[in-house]
Amino acid sequence: MFKKIKRKIVSNIVFMRLSFLVQRLKRKNQSEDIYHIDKIEKILAVKKLFNINILIETGTYLGQTVNYVKNHFSHIFSIELSELLAEEAKRKFKKHKNVEIIKGDSGLALSEILKKVQAKKIFWLDTHYSSGIAAVSDNFGNTPILKELEIIFDNWTNGNIILIDDARLFNGKNDYPTIEFLSDYILKKNLELRFFIDKDIIHII
Ligand SMILES: C[S@@+](CC[C@H](N)C(=O)[O-])C[C@H]1O[C@@H](n2cnc3c(N)ncnc32)[C@H](O)[C@@H]1O
Repeated sequence: MFKKIKRKIVSNIVFMRLSFLVQRLKRKNQSEDIYHIDKIEKILAVKKLFNINILIETGTYLGQTVNYVKNHFSHIFSIELSELLAEEAKRKFKKHKNVEIIKGDSGLALSEILKKVQAKKIFWLDTHYSSGIAAVSDNFGNTPILKELEIIFDNWTNGNIILIDDARLFNGKNDYPTIEFLSDYILKKNLELRFFIDKDIIHII
């Protein structure tokens, strides 16, 4: 009971501090496109609050997220299944030595990265089929999210933060687990992690 209340209080404090940081960063970037700004500012607020220098993104797509945050992290890994999109992103970020684009299925490639990188990191999990040029995995269908989480927890480092985009899609359809399933799954890991949703982003903090 006490543990539950403590978890709730800490969760509320983290949430309030993050909202404050996001609002402040947002005011600085009024001109940027609004879809990305919410997400980017969330990633940057988490980075600042928890002092994390490594970002691992699954699903590069056109590299918009990488582009916005590339100067804020000492190292960024981004995994993309589509050969075309991965090649294009490699070309785009060629000059940025801290950006590594990996062509592969995140449900498989993620474990190779995690074997190499032990420091705490932010995971931005955003792999799913979205439109014409986006890829669909033969191994995991529309979303490899459960496989990604399994790999992350098998290679867990204290201080890791997981952010999962598109919370609204977690409805038990199209290969997505439900939010309840996911929150139970995290609770069972017993790692004192908080689970909450803000602005369509699932936070595991
Ligand atoms: C929503 S987009 C990512 C958007 C990008 N993160 C951003 O913020 O600009 C999803 C991407 O995931 C890719 N994708 C789908 N399944 C994948 C998988 N199993 N492994 C790696 N990438 C995958 C798609 O090709 C698509 O480019």
